[in-house]
Amino acid sequence: NKTENQMLVIFGASGDLTARKLIPAIFNLYKGKHLPKNFVVLGISRSNLSDEDFRQRVVYDSQYLKDELNGANDAFVKGFADMLYYEDLGDNYDTDYSGLRARIEKLSSAHGTGSNMIYYLSTPPNLYEIIAKNLSDQDLTREENGWKRIIVEKPFGYSLETAKELNDALHKYFEEPQIYRIDHYLGKETVQNLLVTRFANSIFEPLWNRNYIHHVEITNAESVGVEKRGGYYDKSGALRDMFQNHLLQIVSLVVMEPPIGPNAEEIRNEKVKALKSIRIMRDEETLYKNTIRGQYLAADVNGEQVKGYREEDGVDPESTTETYAAIKFFVDNWRWADVPFYVRTAKRMPTKVTEVVIHFKTPHHQIFKDAGFANKDNKLIIRVQPDEGMLMKFGVKVPGQGFKVERANLDFYYSSLTDTHVMTAYERLLLDAMQGDATLYARADEVEAAWEFVDPILDYWANGKEVRTYGYSAGMWGPQNADDLIEGLYMWRNPGK
Ligand code: BG6
Repeated sequence: NKTENQMLVIFGASGDLTARKLIPAIFNLYKGKHLPKNFVVLGISRSNLSDEDFRQRVVYDSQYLKDELNGANDAFVKGFADMLYYEDLGDNYDTDYSGLRARIEKLSSAHGTGSNMIYYLSTPPNLYEIIAKNLSDQDLTREENGWKRIIVEKPFGYSLETAKELNDALHKYFEEPQIYRIDHYLGKETVQNLLVTRFANSIFEPLWNRNYIHHVEITNAESVGVEKRGGYYDKSGALRDMFQNHLLQIVSLVVMEPPIGPNAEEIRNEKVKALKSIRIMRDEETLYKNTIRGQYLAADVNGEQVKGYREEDGVDPESTTETYAAIKFFVDNWRWADVPFYVRTAKRMPTKVTEVVIHFKTPHHQIFKDAGFANKDNKLIIRVQPDEGMLMKFGVKVPGQGFKVERANLDFYYSSLTDTHVMTAYERLLLDAMQGDATLYARADEVEAAWEFVDPILDYWANGKEVRTYGYSAGMWGPQNADDLIEGLYMWRNPGK
């Protein structure tokens, strides 16, 4: 794909995300020779920094580039740093952008970047509309000579209503194809591989339905707590922070029908259909039975005394915000009728892992009843992270007399494919946006469909009767009540460290 000359303008450039994710991603694109010939980054924020200060901060002094710069050629690094510029917006993002416009024009003519622009909003969402409006007032959104794209970070809304408001606000200044809503999970290779596993093979897809699949389980566990983000997290919680976006995106890729082709609109049309077919839970009894929330409690984790959630900085000591969420739901369509989905996400688990487990049904007629091997063990495990890859579990005959069956693993690791640099999520997503490919970005209707499902759960958790936030010890696999969500002979699969 061709990457045309362009300028990337980052709003919120003195913030953490810019230093931690964006600049390292751009550096790697530079290293991999993916950047166009004429390219500059203009960082914008309210801190009083010069171009040199900015370069010093996000390149030379950055802890996030330390490893990359170690031993790198000075001229090469300088070549990168010299692409970065900074503009101080003063006290407020809601201001006259004529100075900014003049700066953009000056940089564009000095570097020959033309009029193709990406605006990356790494700011709180309440600034999205303000920034879009002020850009528009200066004619900086008009696509007359070159294209204009806007990338927005999550959280995209706080509820269905606020997500709609945000979409409406952005649509005043940008057309939908110009808007790139980032969900960094879509930038992960293994998440994209869900599509390839399903639609580039003929061995999985025929089984990918209610006739053969017993249930689907998705686990997203982190070993860290809320770190320094207590203030933000306490108003958000696991359902908003992870489930509404990253996990429902994964669900949509597991659930969707085959798209007609691999382009952005075709894939996203199917994802929206998938999200819309998730059965929305509305009555209290259903919500009570199928949703569990929990909060981590202080504990000794591997010899380290870890704080409980309510003791974290920025968190209300009486907070009921969830750091653990487990939801059981159904997908009402031809393919998935009656197949339960169990999805959970949490902080302060024993390990960091994200995986999708497809549990196949037991054979209809069991010949090897005394096999010692539980027939229910046919599973396909898609490891999103870490140890990216896939694991298939099936039964094999134990050599010797009779028919003793034992479990065997067919294990594939991504790392065995290549030892070249695999792009990080931000590298991949940035490059896609630079090339105008929105396949891995969430469309307005996808985001709204995800909120449609999540909204009643949030409402129930905030206002319902008999709602509890269950405690679980930090470093454990969540509250015991979550085990009761999975019925019958099954249990959550808790992957080892
Ligand atoms: C972010 C959440 O979107 O994803 C964080 O806000 C979370 O709370 C992070 O820690 C997890 O991302 P990853 O890529 O480390 O799984």
